[in-house]
Formats: sequence, structure tokens, C-alpha cells
Amino acid sequence: MRLVLGIGGGIAAYKAPDLVRRLRERGHDVRCVLTANAGRLVAKDALATVSGSPVRDTLWHDGGIEHIDLPRWAEGLLVAPATADLLGKFAHGIADDLLTTLFLALEPQKPVWLCPAMNTVMWEKPQVQGNLKLLIERGARTIGPVGGNLACGENGMGAMSDPTAIATAIA
Ligand SMILES: Cc1cc2nc3c(=O)[nH]c(=O)nc-3n(C[C@H](O)[C@H](O)[C@H](O)COP(=O)(O)O)c2cc1C
Repeated sequence: MRLVLGIGGGIAAYKAPDLVRRLRERGHDVRCVLTANAGRLVAKDALATVSGSPVRDTLWHDGGIEHIDLPRWAEGLLVAPATADLLGKFAHGIADDLLTTLFLALEPQKPVWLCPAMNTVMWEKPQVQGNLKLLIERGARTIGPVGGNLACGENGMGAMSDPTAIATAIA
């Protein structure tokens, strides 16, 4: 499947290159889109190398219209990690960067998988749960989160699913 992998600015972004490897092992063609905050947590060059494709992180790319071309190319969109911020923007139609804009430009019949990951208190906030509920009602599928030791030092719900589990779930 031709997949756009959207990577949000959660600490689990460091797992994104491994996720790309696991997806490619299963035959998927992967193109990565980073938010500006994700770009602080995972190296664009690592993603370009493991995906074998240029990584996009801005709407403004040499006069191109990636926010339309990428969702046209894609057969599905996987977002991992999906931050609280991205869930809110996706749920409410906010399109202020490449990833949130291409989410809106993706044809509605194409599958969207969201892999939320965040601190437990954030995860349990009614705003976050409400946004996720809206997205699920509109057809998005979720993978995780799972419980465990979080990067913030807490032990609870909010860790991103393991890359192998994510790649298996979308198969
Ligand atoms: C080190 C660090 C780790 C973070 N981890 C998470 C996270 O796991 N989940 C989350 O929702 N936000 C996390 N945040 C907050 C987001 O980066 C912040 O909400 C940001 O606006 C998200 O932008 P984006 O959704 O465009 O990537 C983290 C912030 C920092 C500084």
C-alpha cells in the first residue's frame, strides 16, 4: 500500500524510523511527513534513508502542492505518534501545516490510522477523548495507546504502540 506516515511532535517520534522499516518489510511504500515539532525529535535524514523517499515538513516546497499531491498519491494515512494537538486539529478541521492540511485533502474513502501517544493525564482529558471520539465517528481507526512506562516518568496509559504491532495492525 502507498502510505503517508505523518509524524507528530511526541517523544515516540524517535521510533518512527523503526516503524518505517517494519512497514517496508511488509511491502508498503512509505513517504514521511513531519510536523515542525516532530522535526526536533527525529532526524529527517534518518527517515529519508529508511523510507527511500524525500521527507516533507513544510507546505512551502519549491512551488509544489504537496498537501494535494501526497494525499492523491496515498492509499492510506498513518499518523504515529498522533499528538493531542494533532487529534484536536484533525477533529476540528484546522489546517495550519502540511500534515493537518493533507489530512483534510485526503479522499474520505481512504483509510486513516491514528496512533495516539501522550502523557496519561493528557490522554484522559475530556477534550482529547472527545476529539478522538469525533474522529472515530468519522471513520478513523486507532491503534493504541498502550499502558507502560512513559517518557515523562509516569507509569500509565499513553505509550505509542510498538512499531511491529502498528505495522501488523494495518496489514
Ligand atoms: C520533549 C517533548 C515531548 C513531548 N511528547 C509529547 C507526546 O508524547 N504527546 C503529545 O501529545 N505531546 C507531546 N509533547 C507536546 C507537543 O510537542 C506539543 O503539543 C506540540 O504542539 C505538538 O505539535 P504537533 O502536533 O504539530 O507535532 C511533547 C513536547 C516535548 C517538548
